[in-house]
Amino acid sequence: MSGDLWIFGYGSIMWRADFPYIESQSAYIKGWCRRFWQGSTDHRGIPGQPGRVVTLIEQPGEVCVGRAYRVRREQADDVLAGLDYREKGGYEQLLLNVYFDESNLTAGITYHATAENPDYLGEAPFPTIARQIASAQGPSGPNSEYIHNLHEALQQESATDAHVDAIFREVRLIEETLPAK
Ligand code: SIN
Repeated sequence: MSGDLWIFGYGSIMWRADFPYIESQSAYIKGWCRRFWQGSTDHRGIPGQPGRVVTLIEQPGEVCVGRAYRVRREQADDVLAGLDYREKGGYEQLLLNVYFDESNLTAGITYHATAENPDYLGEAPFPTIARQIASAQGPSGPNSEYIHNLHEALQQESATDAHVDAIFREVRLIEETLPAK
């Protein structure tokens, strides 16, 4: 229905949509890429030992695949309030075009963390990012679970993301060398 809200998830919202929605579809955005450049001190890390989670970085020509959720207009304010709280660790709402295919798009809201937020970590070599992910944990669980879930969610969309794949491989290598629990 016109007036419904579309929410685009490219990180944890892909596998944990803890809000009411009418339908969800594979979707993508243009001009942005997904990067493990945001620190997490409230979900996948703690203050002083932050984890790393994904944010969107503006990059002309790039496409970022994720999942879009249609929320009933009457529930939009409540859903956004819930997501504002969940994503309060540095993320802000961003309105953008969400594509289902090249001739089918809609306006949607996503959450992205800019370099101005205090938890932003920015770029680092893949092994450094992977070591941080392999060791961090926070109230929502181990940081490694986040990248496993993200990798699986992208596979379910039949999407590849070279940045996520490269860090995921490094995390797996670290996990394989850790003593069994
Ligand atoms: C999202 O999932 O779209 C936002 C980033 C995150 O919470 O992982």
